[in-house]
Amino acid sequence: MMLTGTVPRRCVNLPPGALRLLLHTAAAGKLREGAAVDEFAARFGQWLGVPHVFGVSSGRSAFQLTLESLDLERGKEIIFPAFTFPVIPMVARLLGYKPVFCDVDPESFNAGAEHIEAKITENTGAVLATHMFGRPCPIREIAELVKSRGIRLLEDCAHACGVRVNGRPAGTFGDVGIYSFAEGKNMPCFGGGAIATADEQIARRARSILDRSPLAEAGAIASQAFSMWVKWLLTRPFIFGITAYPVLRARLAMGKPLMDSTVGDALLDEFSASKPRIGRMTNLQAALGLLQLRYIDAFNDGARENARILTENLGEVPSVRVPRGSMDDHVYVYYPLSVDPEKRDDLRRFLLRHGVDSKNTDMSDCTKLRAFQDGGEFSPEPGARLDASVLEICVYPIIPEKEMKRIARLIRSWAGLPEIHPGGGRS
Ligand SMILES: Cc1ncc(COP(=O)(O)O)c(C=O)c1O
Repeated sequence: MMLTGTVPRRCVNLPPGALRLLLHTAAAGKLREGAAVDEFAARFGQWLGVPHVFGVSSGRSAFQLTLESLDLERGKEIIFPAFTFPVIPMVARLLGYKPVFCDVDPESFNAGAEHIEAKITENTGAVLATHMFGRPCPIREIAELVKSRGIRLLEDCAHACGVRVNGRPAGTFGDVGIYSFAEGKNMPCFGGGAIATADEQIARRARSILDRSPLAEAGAIASQAFSMWVKWLLTRPFIFGITAYPVLRARLAMGKPLMDSTVGDALLDEFSASKPRIGRMTNLQAALGLLQLRYIDAFNDGARENARILTENLGEVPSVRVPRGSMDDHVYVYYPLSVDPEKRDDLRRFLLRHGVDSKNTDMSDCTKLRAFQDGGEFSPEPGARLDASVLEICVYPIIPEKEMKRIARLIRSWAGLPEIHPGGGRS
């Protein structure tokens, strides 16, 4: 069993100096409150080119703050892509709105204007355009459509922090951009999230809601940060190879589940039971956000290069489909490979036996979930079974080019193609 040359399914992306920052902030007694919160909001806003940013405790909290600040009449419909992280439409449902799902393009994983238009009714209050897996959706066309109908446009940028569309950052085309800084995203801040808006009225309401919102206790902040730092350590490829990887191999040998996350209906049950509420961003999260801003563009460039290697080498592999579209504008933090659903587990096990851990997607076809059975009429195959076919491969820049090429070779050999594409990869 190989212990080195292994690739984890996720690498927590903490920049150099994150542990020092954690210890320093704790020693100064500044985990909860401090100057970093306003400074981060100002700097993140400058980076996006948006006047108002509000830091919160998570991406879902950012969406809740968005809906509460929009002040839409309860009962209004909100259009979501059918294939998404289901907690987000659940937030809308718990606040008294009606989630309506539109179809997505199975090759880009995104909804386009034509999919959204088909679901607009007189009762539509808002549309959430999601930049799934860091690939921008056709946001210009969507903005044109949605604004011409007098509907609010929100952008879910949980996977797309730093993605630009013709030079303009994702999250700045609609009324509000929603960001997540959770451990699995490209800019983790020991958890956290943010909203960005140029709308003065939304900003005023958001400020007043946040003034009344709770802030986590120092002990909880420290333990969450420390546990994230430990995950950072365990997902360094070498450490992963001598810790989690042997456990995964043992589980594979015993035919046990491969430590997968809770998804779908079970995830929604857990989330609803947690009585979600808006939380403020902590000073520690904001301080880490300031540090992250120095590195995020370089991180995104590296992830993009690693994703390019997979796309260039897996173009015509049977049973496998690479995401469609230009390779220049996305940031694939996890590379979404579509695999014949009958064969996805087999590929996953094959990769794991060769040192490469991968992940079944946490995204769901929401139209198939119990909680959203009344979500409307759908085309025969909304989401086209994307949740059963997407296998996420880690493309973090700490994974070297030769390792990415090895992953591509492995997938080709699994599909019965012995040779790597001659023009493929970086030379
Ligand atoms: C598309 C999408 N939106 C929003 C979120 C919510 O972010 P958070 O986990 O920080 O609440 C996620 C989380 O995975 C997500 O995948």
